[in-house]
Amino acid sequence: MKAVQVLGTRENHRIVLSDTLLRPSPTGHQILIKVHAAGITADEVIWPELYASTHRVPGHDISGTIEAVGPEYDGPLSLGQSVYAMLAADSPQGGQSEYAIAMPNEVAIKPLSISHAQAAALPIPALTAWEAVFSRMKLTQGSKALVTGASGAVGAMFVQIAKKLLSAEVIGLASPSKYDFVQELGATKVLDYGSLDWCDKIHGVDAVFDTVGGEVLTKAWKTVKQDGVIVTVGDPAPSWAFNGGQPEESQTYPGVKCLHFIVSPDGDALTHVASLIDDGALRPIPVQVFEAKEAVEAWKYASHRGRKGKAVIQFLSE
Ligand SMILES: NC(=O)c1ccc[n+]([C@@H]2O[C@H](COP(=O)([O-])OP(=O)(O)OC[C@H]3O[C@@H](n4cnc5c(N)ncnc54)[C@H](OP(=O)(O)O)[C@@H]3O)[C@@H](O)[C@H]2O)c1
Repeated sequence: MKAVQVLGTRENHRIVLSDTLLRPSPTGHQILIKVHAAGITADEVIWPELYASTHRVPGHDISGTIEAVGPEYDGPLSLGQSVYAMLAADSPQGGQSEYAIAMPNEVAIKPLSISHAQAAALPIPALTAWEAVFSRMKLTQGSKALVTGASGAVGAMFVQIAKKLLSAEVIGLASPSKYDFVQELGATKVLDYGSLDWCDKIHGVDAVFDTVGGEVLTKAWKTVKQDGVIVTVGDPAPSWAFNGGQPEESQTYPGVKCLHFIVSPDGDALTHVASLIDDGALRPIPVQVFEAKEAVEAWKYASHRGRKGKAVIQFLSE
């Protein structure tokens, strides 16, 4: 079957389209999905899990149809149904291939009103934003939040989920060319992280959701209230994230809770997201679709800033 593979090392890698891998067979409770489209998160090439996997097939966001299930599968899904899924970071084989194996808790019925390509762009961005809003920040009705990278895939889902589901006041940071887009999603105010003083113009937010990291994250501390929360997901993760440490800024802002997390698969949340998309409450993310034979170009496109949509590889035409 056709599959994207990442060869070489984390520091010196090469992305290729191969046709040497065999179609996997589902065992136990597994579900075999015929992949119509798979989304690209370009930073995955720095995730260690990819290099620990046997086949080095990247991709965790897929949309397709159920081709087969393992002998012990006893869930509600049936053959031929259209589904979308986020495969776990440590899945033995990723989703950028004609067939992929998923676990039942990773899969949900695909939103009916959008294409497989649009659905394949959603799982990680939607689940990351969902987990940030409801589990990590515990935002409540009318909370005030700042999101950095508001025009990106994760940021765009955060703006919409916080605004539409919790009537939150959301301030976004984005490049000026993306202001209209971020405002249309529901942001109350959009500022440019290129302007030096953006952090002096925002005060007392309940929560910061950071998808950029680095200097942007450092400056965001000034905007949060004394007992607020900062949640960051930008790659590479800050050095304190994996050793139980705390960022230096915690000494200056002792009441502010700061945390980093890695998104987990959540089929139930994907089911909610699908119905919100079909109801028109949430908009899908803009996508740029590439055919499987253009997979290498798709990865190049996905790594560039300022692109028009999330890169998606289409393995089967709609
Ligand atoms: N920890 C997790 O579980 C998790 C889950 C999902 C994603 N992530 C990470 O979160 C980050 C955002 O993901 P995404 O899918 O939303 O990415 P994306 O679609 O590329 O969006 C990132 C946004 O950040 C802005 N940005 C500001 N400074 C940037 C810079 N120096 N380089 C690149 N972009 C910059 C860009 O906005 P403008 O164009 O408006 O400037 C861009 O739209 C990525 O690093 C991704 O790997 C982590």
